[in-house]
Amino acid sequence: MLIRPMRDDDIGAARALTHEELQLSRSATRPASLPAPPAGPPTPDWSGRWERRAKHLLRHDAEGCWVAETDGEVVGVAMSLRREKLWGLSAFFVHPQAQGAGVGAALLDAALGYSQGCLRGIIISTADPRAARRYRLAGFTLHPTIRVAGTVDRSAIPVVDGVRTGGPGDQDLCASVDRRVRGAAHGVDHEFLCAEYGLLVSDTFTGSGYCFVDPSGSPVLLAATSRKIAQRLLWAALAVSPEGADVHVDYLTADQEWAVDVALAAGLSLRTEGYLCLRHMRPPAPYLPSGAFL
Ligand SMILES: CC(C)(COP(=O)(O)OP(=O)(O)OC[C@H]1O[C@@H](n2cnc3c(N)ncnc32)[C@H](O)[C@@H]1OP(=O)(O)O)[C@@H](O)C(=O)NCCC(=O)NCCS
Repeated sequence: MLIRPMRDDDIGAARALTHEELQLSRSATRPASLPAPPAGPPTPDWSGRWERRAKHLLRHDAEGCWVAETDGEVVGVAMSLRREKLWGLSAFFVHPQAQGAGVGAALLDAALGYSQGCLRGIIISTADPRAARRYRLAGFTLHPTIRVAGTVDRSAIPVVDGVRTGGPGDQDLCASVDRRVRGAAHGVDHEFLCAEYGLLVSDTFTGSGYCFVDPSGSPVLLAATSRKIAQRLLWAALAVSPEGADVHVDYLTADQEWAVDVALAAGLSLRTEGYLCLRHMRPPAPYLPSGAFL
């Protein structure tokens, strides 16, 4: 087995093995992973976004992206990023037939090499015990997470003031909220997120915040300087959801009760799954991390 830097021409194989693994994890006998691609063959939407994200990371974080190769085949991938003094793991998958044999340990070691000089680290873990074992052994604290899903009770949506549509010009505002809440801005990821998702912004006398939201009304990334503003932004995101759409709010630690309360009021249901894994930092709050950009 060879661990080597990832290249652009590995993206298709890495995407395919990730898709295969996520499809397997849908079955009851395997730990679930979110956000999962739609059941069946990869949809152009899911594949396209996965590949654009991988290209973005290879462009900005080439030293953080690694693959494992056996007999010329890509059998594992780890992609990590570094934003200011924060390191994060964006993707970590080993082909189902190669799992449990040390490939993941070697890939994670390579990706962690890119964390040198960073003060803090962040990973979102699935419920897979192999992943949790790797992260704890690498010194991360495992914070169990709540995941919320369902369809929004539209009669519960309040009138939300002080939230507007944002765009690339809001990068400074978002960066300053990020630094205050999680100690590092998202930098180049802001542009990527603006191109892929809607952006809601709140900037008032009492504080500010932002939320990237997907077309289903699910928040992709949210940060705010107060719980009140975070709740407003989350309601504004849920209000975007089309009638009957499946909405999810992921990776909530107990520190995000403001979000749990909104979710319950919106008629969504809670379950526990996976961990927010942090090194040298407390869970940022009020904050909903992005699985890909943390
Ligand atoms: C998580 C993942 C990337 C790890 O890769 P891997 O090649 O399986 O990892 P390794 O073999 O290096 O390490 C797995 C560890 O868990 C242990 N392990 C294996 N099966 C296990 C089980 N059922 N329960 C608990 N531990 C288990 C192994 O012994 C090993 O520990 P050790 O090195 O201390 O002996 C891979 O399993 C995977 O793709 N899982 C599904 C997708 C996923 O959840 N990815 C994580 C995204 S956050």
